[in-house]
Amino acid sequence: MPNTVNSKINRQQNNFPMQKLPYFDIKRQHDPLLGGTLAAFEKVFTSGAYILGPALKDFECKFAGYIGVPFAAGVASGTDALIFALKAAGIKRGDEVIMPSFTFTATALAAIHLGAVPVFADVDEKSFTLDPRSVSKACSKKTKAILPVHLFGQCADMDALMEIAKAKKLKVIEDACQAHGATWNGKKAGAFGDAGAFSFYPTKNLGGIGDGGIVTTSNEGLFQKVLQYRNLGKGLQNPLMHDEIGWTSRLDSIQAAFLSIKLDRLDAFNDERRKLAVLFEEKLDKTPLVLPAQINGALHVYHIYVVRVPDGKRDALKSHLAQDGIPSMIHYEIPVHRQPVMRQYATKRVRLTVTERICREVLTLPFFPGMTGQEVATVAESVKNFFGK
Ligand SMILES: Cc1ncc(COP(=O)(O)O)c(C=O)c1O
Repeated sequence: MPNTVNSKINRQQNNFPMQKLPYFDIKRQHDPLLGGTLAAFEKVFTSGAYILGPALKDFECKFAGYIGVPFAAGVASGTDALIFALKAAGIKRGDEVIMPSFTFTATALAAIHLGAVPVFADVDEKSFTLDPRSVSKACSKKTKAILPVHLFGQCADMDALMEIAKAKKLKVIEDACQAHGATWNGKKAGAFGDAGAFSFYPTKNLGGIGDGGIVTTSNEGLFQKVLQYRNLGKGLQNPLMHDEIGWTSRLDSIQAAFLSIKLDRLDAFNDERRKLAVLFEEKLDKTPLVLPAQINGALHVYHIYVVRVPDGKRDALKSHLAQDGIPSMIHYEIPVHRQPVMRQYATKRVRLTVTERICREVLTLPFFPGMTGQEVATVAESVKNFFGK
């Protein structure tokens, strides 16, 4: 029997060309961290403090310091970080929250879970982040917050967005789930708005070994609300008194212990990502691809490497790469406002012209710390062959 299964698998595999390189390889980041991680795990394990213990507090202080804010609260995921940040900022049923549609669905889910209404604005085609002019157009009397997404590792135009928020008295919650360490005019993503939300999903720039997230803020009242939401709404002075409707959504001590070790390496990993991006630029320079642009004021940390393929050739290039043993992905093929579950939120207030177009053009190439120059060259060679150069 096992032979039949194996031969089936082999036959299936034989239909595909040999993969020349991985799309993403977490082992190249994590293997060197193993020794320190096991020692830290032993400490947590023997302490017995698995939930809300000192390892979590240490990491929260360290991460807050890294971002440049006084407070950070670890939670179970980036989505929960967004939900709690919005709720703690006062967003409630019926409030409108302006956000891009060109993002991961979780951005919009966070508002919807609170009964708020996601209102989608268009993005800038160079940075892929919220276009401030479109945000202004999308505002109504019901608008209560802007939710910029620092997409693919690059900050949105926080000067312009903070200005709109100030003028219209709106809250700003940053979706920094893809932008650990990215800066805008020297200030880190997650330090601009009323709060920032980060994900520690394993593929992120600061990825854990499971799910996790964190809320960063300079507002102590907001921070304390998040501490309650993540812990079933228990009172901070008297945990026997539940005075909020909360969740069970804490960042585990063991996860925090690992993230603390990895945080020491985050800047080095981000530098490596930036060097890989330069290498890709050199190698792909003469192709028709539109390469990711670092906008004036932004320090891009290249969470992923997303190019635009002009002239309707995206899907053909993707197939060509696959035939050549090079995996690729699409972020995002379906904009959030076109997801079946979002139909009722599709707004006619602003046109999402850029969003609609770039969803047909974007292609994500293999890209990760530890990727070799030879692997970058292999990808570039295949792209050049496709375009006949
Ligand atoms: C832009 C964005 N927002 C929110 C999330 C949600 O984070 P998580 O998967 O940790 O819930 C993610 C990541 O998955 C993301 O990329």
